Amino acid sequence: MELTHIEHIGIAVKSIEEQLPYYEGVLGLKCYNIETVEDQKVKTAFFQIGQTKIELLEPTSEESTVAKFIEKRGEGVHHIAFATNNLTEALQQAEEKGVRLIDSKPRAGAEGLNIAFLHPKSTGSVLTELCEHP
Ligand code: CO
Repeated sequence: MELTHIEHIGIAVKSIEEQLPYYEGVLGLKCYNIETVEDQKVKTAFFQIGQTKIELLEPTSEESTVAKFIEKRGEGVHHIAFATNNLTEALQQAEEKGVRLIDSKPRAGAEGLNIAFLHPKSTGSVLTELCEHP
């Protein structure tokens, strides 16, 4: 597949508000968007750094996969998202190479992106997201 850059790094947090002093006050990044993604049951906060974003993920429900992640592994890096210009093709190619997919088709993510996740069993335990600007 052809990837263009790291679109964002997703970081699981219990509270976005509690982390703002670090990202804004210490790192000097500016939170430019806070958005709730209903179907993933998360609130997201975005910081831009170059071509890449930091995406903080706060669960809005105990059912959220991010809530389960924090319960099991604690707060911290949750996923890496790579940008591609053709998500459907990238998914097809991954599948042909035997990669297990969480999403076999693109779906709507935060910030109007089309996204799909690859299964960590196939990616050395790193939850991997592919995304494309529609
Ligand atoms: Co993401």
